[in-house]
Amino acid sequence: MVEKRKVILDCDPGHDDAISMILAAANDKIEIEAITTVAGNVEVDKTTLNALRVCDIIGLKDVPVAEGQNRPMVRETQIAESIHGDSGLDGPNLPEVPSKESIDQHAVDLIIEKVMESDGDLTLVPTGPLTNIAMAMVKEPKIVPKIKEIVLMGGGTFGNWTPAAEFNIWVDAEAAKVVFTSGVPIAMFGLDVTHQAQATDETIERFAQIDNPVSEFVVELLRFFKKTYKEVFGFDGAPIHDACTVAYLIDPSIFECVDVRVDIETKGEFTYGMTCVDLLGVTGREANTKFAQSLDQDKFWDLLSDALATYSK
Ligand code: BDR
Ligand code: CA
Repeated sequence: MVEKRKVILDCDPGHDDAISMILAAANDKIEIEAITTVAGNVEVDKTTLNALRVCDIIGLKDVPVAEGQNRPMVRETQIAESIHGDSGLDGPNLPEVPSKESIDQHAVDLIIEKVMESDGDLTLVPTGPLTNIAMAMVKEPKIVPKIKEIVLMGGGTFGNWTPAAEFNIWVDAEAAKVVFTSGVPIAMFGLDVTHQAQATDETIERFAQIDNPVSEFVVELLRFFKKTYKEVFGFDGAPIHDACTVAYLIDPSIFECVDVRVDIETKGEFTYGMTCVDLLGVTGREANTKFAQSLDQDKFWDLLSDALATYSK
């Protein structure tokens, strides 16, 4: 029997968040304990609605979806409509009214409850700003030593929202600081590696050939995402940033990682939200992060393609 990795997906769907959910739900090595939402790509009411819509599309009926923080710990809400559109998931036709509702419990409380109930075997997978995770740690510090690992998308040695900062970390750098100084083992999938996961026309065509409702949904997501990435960043492909986290949990051999010290900049005039990745060990400080540097493209696209093919026609 395959040993399942229990996860909470803490997300802000978001095109690539949605694909990350689809990959996790399709793979028998992953058990999704809950989905929690946070403001990021769009406001939290929209990211919650989108999470519920994706659950509908992939038939994920029994997993609770809990809505979380609508603003960062210290700063005002910042969103990324230019990349994900007004709904946060522009492109495909989406179910207007999803068949299930979010549960009547705040995401922060659900994270605390699930971690406290666990045997220390729960992994948190944040693919949006780290507000919910940090708030949960601040509200109930007893969860910190019980979290198995945090496998997150964020940061990098360069930025995409400012020259220094990646969007998820930049939205709530104070939350990121709480998480990166918590002592919980962290695996970080930043722009250095996620920009290697760019879906090109060729990849999109490969997914289109799979030809089921979920692959069709992903194709429409990627067509929109690829268009905005071309307009905003001049890229030829759409980076499926967030799915790197789940891909790593399913098959770590896809990635090459190094153990390094990462600290979060919360004060800089030009560098707020920067992840200071000590690749050369110049700080002499203890490593707190497994930092993903590269991925095996063939294995990554095969994994996604196989996942999409598991959904019925
Ligand atoms: C991150 O920001 C969002 O736009 C994506 O969903 C991803 O999590 C990339 O910077
Ligand atoms: Ca995201």
